[in-house]
Amino acid sequence: MNDPIIQLDDVTTIHEGSTHPTIQNISLKINRGEFVIVGGPNGAGKTTLLETIAGRLPIISGTVLVCGFDVVHHGPQIRKKLGYVIQNFDFDPYTPFTVEEVLLMGRYGLLGFCKRPGSDDFTAVEQSLTQMGIISLRKSHIGRLSGGQQQKVLIAHNLAKKPDVLLLDEPFSNLDLTTREHVCDVLCRIADAGVTIVMVSHAFDALPARGVRAVVMKSGKIVLNKVIPPEQVQDTVRHISNDTNA
Ligand SMILES: Nc1ncnc2c1ncn2[C@@H]1O[C@H](COP(=O)(O)OP(=O)(O)O)[C@@H](O)[C@H]1O
Ligand SMILES: [Mg+2]
Repeated sequence: MNDPIIQLDDVTTIHEGSTHPTIQNISLKINRGEFVIVGGPNGAGKTTLLETIAGRLPIISGTVLVCGFDVVHHGPQIRKKLGYVIQNFDFDPYTPFTVEEVLLMGRYGLLGFCKRPGSDDFTAVEQSLTQMGIISLRKSHIGRLSGGQQQKVLIAHNLAKKPDVLLLDEPFSNLDLTTREHVCDVLCRIADAGVTIVMVSHAFDALPARGVRAVVMKSGKIVLNKVIPPEQVQDTVRHISNDTNA
């Protein structure tokens, strides 16, 4: 299978206000339907890689294509096809939105200008709440939930978008083991249905029963990029991450 849905060519990006590029001369091709695990030590540039794919950072050289669109010039088109579960979120306790409203916001980008959500949108919201096991929270205010519950809502928000590509940045950091396994199963099913998943994670509780692309980063560079059987992911990523010569 060779059908790139994400393609970075010799990309260097910089954070605003920073004097040094955060990731440098990165090239990476991810095919449609791949399950990608991004590993590496703290500060390696994993979050920056996802922000770059999502078009959130200034690109100082190279090109980034997602779903065939250049992220610099076609942000709105890409945002319709891309889900992004960010690493650090912080909801004020008084955030005036219910869980259901947060999920509906995931659908607004798909609607036309000034259009109101219809039955497809409410169905997608309901399906995502059910998938994540949080239907009972639908009327709760997001700011009043625990960190783990908020994390599940953010994942559900992105599932409701029905994205072609789903980026997840340490999505298990607030979740207990049982919930983590449940979320892993949901992600595997989505991947098996053809959604491309790029996940920064140190947890390897469940992976799809097929090849997984392991990408390991260090000091803003990719030091491993290889499709391997799921049972080898944990050892491979840990070994390369800890290898001081890599
Ligand atoms: N907003 C920012 N401004 C300046 N530098 C940043 C910013 N965010 C991250 N960095 C720097 O970029 C590097 C990579 O960070 P990051 O991508 O968050 O690493 P990781 O996700 O692998 O832990 C780190 O050196 C970090 O200090
Ligand atoms: Mg990070």
